[in-house]
Amino acid sequence: MNASPHPPAADALSISSVTVRFQGLAAISDCTLSLAPREIVGLVGPNGAGKTTLVNVLTGFQKPTEGSLHIEGRDALGWSPAKVRGAGVARTFQAGRLFGNLSVLENAQVSAIASGLGKRAARVRAEAILEEVGLSQAHDQQAASLPYTDQRRLDIARALCSQPKFMLLDEPAAGMSDSECEDLMAIIRSLPERYGCGVLLIEHNMHVVMSLSDRLHVLDGGRTIITGLPEEVSRHEAFLKAYLGEEIAA
Ligand SMILES: Nc1ncnc2c1ncn2[C@@H]1O[C@H](COP(=O)(O)OP(=O)(O)O)[C@@H](O)[C@H]1O
Ligand SMILES: [Mg+2]
Repeated sequence: MNASPHPPAADALSISSVTVRFQGLAAISDCTLSLAPREIVGLVGPNGAGKTTLVNVLTGFQKPTEGSLHIEGRDALGWSPAKVRGAGVARTFQAGRLFGNLSVLENAQVSAIASGLGKRAARVRAEAILEEVGLSQAHDQQAASLPYTDQRRLDIARALCSQPKFMLLDEPAAGMSDSECEDLMAIIRSLPERYGCGVLLIEHNMHVVMSLSDRLHVLDGGRTIITGLPEEVSRHEAFLKAYLGEEIAA
């Protein structure tokens, strides 16, 4: 897992040899990961493994202590979150960050406008995406008044409205029922083809992540322990240990 000898791919979102320390404690150690256009990579690992920290690095919210960040071949280390977003990297948040006082439609529209669309085009795009995520009935509702799972859907819609090349989804299905989760899986599965974007999916439900991901990247204690095809990874002893360990502890 040392520095890749290859230059960063011209069409990928990638980090190389990233370490993040908080007061001396390493949340991420020497991590290298690349997300290609139109691929779904599952980022998995027990609580505290460093998954959200990695997403923070990939989106400019956290500057790594060491290592590099490239967006489509451009050195993006030290870029602000807004600049990273402008370069086509969108994310959702574990705890949601919607404009609670704005309507559902306004939340989506603001994101489309921020990505450079005019007001009218932004509205058209927002309406289309809200329809696809199943929120068209809720246009005029205040975002804060939505049920929790609809807020998560709106968070995804908001991210999609910025016309991203890469979508980073931090536990989007958390708190959803099985059927809500099925709906969400269908949306996530459609992202590469429908919107042309690569997806990094953080998800605890192994069934969900195994069935959606082209590749898995497994973190434990801030380190990459395995990467590979889902069927390869699931047979790996270190993977089973990380997960069974967590279930026993839970
Ligand atoms: N801002 C921060 N300051 C100090 N420690 C942090 C901070 N953010 C995360 N950590 C620590 O880094 C580790 C990884 O956290 P996190 O990335 O949230 O893991 P995950 O998303 O996999 O559950 C944890 O030990 C967490 O307590
Ligand atoms: Mg997390």
